[in-house]
Amino acid sequence: MTNADFTPRVFSGIQPSGGLTLGNYLGALKRFVDMQNAGTHECVYCMVDQHAITVWQNPADLRNNTRELAAFFIASGVDPERSILFNQSQVPAHAQLGWIFNCVARMGWMSRMTQWKDKSGKNSENASLGLFGYPALMAADILVYHATHVPVGDDQKQHLELTRDIAAKFNHDYGVDFFPITEPVIDGPAKRVMSLTDGTKKMSKSDPSDKSRINMSDDADAIARKFRKARTDPDPLPDSYEGLKDRPEARNLVDIFAALSERTREDVMGEVQGMQWGAFKPLLADLAVEKLSPISVEMTRLLDDPGEIDRILGRGAERAEEIANPILAKTYEIVGMVASK
Ligand code: TYM
Repeated sequence: MTNADFTPRVFSGIQPSGGLTLGNYLGALKRFVDMQNAGTHECVYCMVDQHAITVWQNPADLRNNTRELAAFFIASGVDPERSILFNQSQVPAHAQLGWIFNCVARMGWMSRMTQWKDKSGKNSENASLGLFGYPALMAADILVYHATHVPVGDDQKQHLELTRDIAAKFNHDYGVDFFPITEPVIDGPAKRVMSLTDGTKKMSKSDPSDKSRINMSDDADAIARKFRKARTDPDPLPDSYEGLKDRPEARNLVDIFAALSERTREDVMGEVQGMQWGAFKPLLADLAVEKLSPISVEMTRLLDDPGEIDRILGRGAERAEEIANPILAKTYEIVGMVASK
């Protein structure tokens, strides 16, 4: 069997751990919407609440953040009728397949994950076991749908390679061709949106400086101020994208502009070449406000009715189970679990 024999299916997830950034929007959500709208794949999108608790989450915050993330998905254009939208804990098949993958993945594979090293830091003795095993659950999220394509930002690449390793080892150990070897979809100008204060660091909600990022909750004034103050260099914009090679902050702003305006980098350079920052930054800020404000307005509207959000997620979970449960049952059969009920 090759991947072409599987139903073309997209899976991706975002942690409801609060603090959504422009990186999440351009690197992930906007691309989820594009894949849904392309209509070539069945799309399954998930709020991965079980991943979130690998580090401490206050329960009330987790609830709010899950609903806020659902609102972010919908306000950005994920249509819960066309796509399947739900929170991970409501589909137990993820954790169940995750356990099987805990027994397939090797300790050595997990300990090489850079995200584990970064997040556990110097105090890995005190990190949760869940944080260490996290990538096996992520592989289960994807493979319990036999997903063929996974759109993510660049920082998830290593986890997707591990997903492929887990699928290949399972298939090999059990002598089957059961799990697809998933294709990461890491493309576009915003696959790695960088910090506004240091172009060598990823834009992240965990950066101590709020000036380093655009939060999805920022108002128009904050967005404009942050872009105006974004670090750059003294030179004007060059006449080609290659001219930005050693100018990470400048390149990042051009990449953000290209992603927000849905144009190629080259096309954007044609328009902005030779511009001074004093002219480019207000253009970028206006574009960002134009694209992001309607999302935050719609999020606020949706969050007025949390009951409706819960109903949407519940319906999504039922649809997700229709795909996941038979795949889990077949996995149990392959592994040799007796189906006694
Ligand atoms: P998470 O919640 O950290 O991030 C969600 C998505 O946002 C992307 N992203 C970025 N993209 C570009 N530039 C940035 N600065 C930036 N910051 C975040 C991430 O790459 C990601 O696509 N492990 C995952 C969640 C997950 C998952 C999955 C993803 C769990 N199971 C299965 C795909 C498939 C995570 O922590 O993403």
